[in-house]
Amino acid sequence: MPNAKSEFDVIVWGATGFTGELVADYLLESYGLPGVDATPAIAGKYPEVVRWAIAGRNPAKLAALQERLGAPVPILVADSDDVESLEELVSKTTVVLTTVGPYAQYGSKLVAACATSGTHYCDLTGEVQWMRKMIDQHQVAAEASGARIVHTCGFDSIPSDLGTLFVHNAMRAQSNDDCGFVKYRASKFKGGMSGGTIASMMNMMEEAEQDPGLTDLLADPYALNPADGARGLDGPDKVTPEYDKDFDNYVAPFVMAAINTRVVRRSNALMNNRYGHMFCYDEATLAGEGPIGFAKSLAMSATTALLTGATAIRPLRELLQRVVPKPGEGPDEDLRENGFFEIELCARGAADPAVQVRAVVRGDKDPGYGSTSKMIAESAVCLAFDDLKVGGGVWTPASAMGELLIERLHERAGVTFTLHDSVTDFGAAL
Ligand SMILES: NC(=O)c1ccc[n+]([C@@H]2O[C@H](COP(=O)([O-])OP(=O)(O)OC[C@H]3O[C@@H](n4cnc5c(N)ncnc54)[C@H](OP(=O)(O)O)[C@@H]3O)[C@@H](O)[C@H]2O)c1
Repeated sequence: MPNAKSEFDVIVWGATGFTGELVADYLLESYGLPGVDATPAIAGKYPEVVRWAIAGRNPAKLAALQERLGAPVPILVADSDDVESLEELVSKTTVVLTTVGPYAQYGSKLVAACATSGTHYCDLTGEVQWMRKMIDQHQVAAEASGARIVHTCGFDSIPSDLGTLFVHNAMRAQSNDDCGFVKYRASKFKGGMSGGTIASMMNMMEEAEQDPGLTDLLADPYALNPADGARGLDGPDKVTPEYDKDFDNYVAPFVMAAINTRVVRRSNALMNNRYGHMFCYDEATLAGEGPIGFAKSLAMSATTALLTGATAIRPLRELLQRVVPKPGEGPDEDLRENGFFEIELCARGAADPAVQVRAVVRGDKDPGYGSTSKMIAESAVCLAFDDLKVGGGVWTPASAMGELLIERLHERAGVTFTLHDSVTDFGAAL
């Protein structure tokens, strides 16, 4: 439950950025503003009055955002370099939702302030090397203070992490078995990238160039698992085309796999190997059937390899940076509103691989921004209001919020989880 002593339930830090503004739009539309004549668009099961505020480093930009929102959303100012301003920010709220990235550049002091003060935290980072650092530096303090620190609350890695939990629960309900493996297949999507996301990817390449040890960390399939915990049977991410019998399709590498797979494996470890000790997980993109599918998977694998290679070479990276969107820019409203994503999941039983569970996770807006802003906003409200089973620590979405967040997203945010060809129903998978 929210801390009644806090002035706010949720503060959106980075609200003036591309994604932060979308989060503010969603919170206003879905939850209104306490004391203001704004009726929440979605009420019923979740009637919370959310006390929320916008925050950032630039008061003028925050005032302009408040004007555009057309509501007196409270404003707070904090800069990533000013520890005092961050400590004051976190002292006022139950949860900080941050869209200030690249997180490796601007996020560390905020995580430290949250972990020390007991303030819950969620973000959209996909920077594995930075998450590793945050886990190592703040796990103990977060456990002691009660702060739930949850990274990757957007398209990376909620469909992967909660989708896996969902099919695992369905497998248990159906056959009381663990999942021997879960496959995540990106099937259809329409969307674009923002300057902030590209800056975060480029920053990761910069860091890897300066510290060659990072390349090994990024290649480790268990890069985010507890250091003293057991590892599993998974190997390196897919880099070449292959035929996938379960989908009767050729598959190609999925760009976000190097982040999502680490998060899902960490979830299994943090939940005491809930998916089983033999659990395997991988991600890929469906390319199609027959010779055309094979040709497409070949082209997709080559493009991914070329782009990864190009961003690893400084002069090419600098060239690319000139043509891609700048921080603050991103896909236009038309692309966001008409965008969508669809992820197919296939699980097979550990004891009996003939038993399979299939599900689809869909988003009704583009994955990276329209849907992501709703996913992180609901994560923040879930952290503030829902009766979570875990205490403080550096968690993943599934291990911290699990079924409660699946239900929220399904019912409120247009991110749906559907089982098909299954004897289990939605409720039983929660
Ligand atoms: N995982 C996912 O699915 C996903 C999806 C979308 C975005 N993201 C990540 O989210 C992050 C934000 O992306 P975006 O496109 O929204 O970026 P953006 O438009 O560049 O916004 C960045 C925000 O950070 C603020 N900021 C920058 N430096 C700051 C500082 N020193 N102190 C305080 N605030 C500072 C900016 O403030 P000003 O407005 O004052 O410049 C702005 O509000 C990126 O890391 C991106 O990779 C992830």
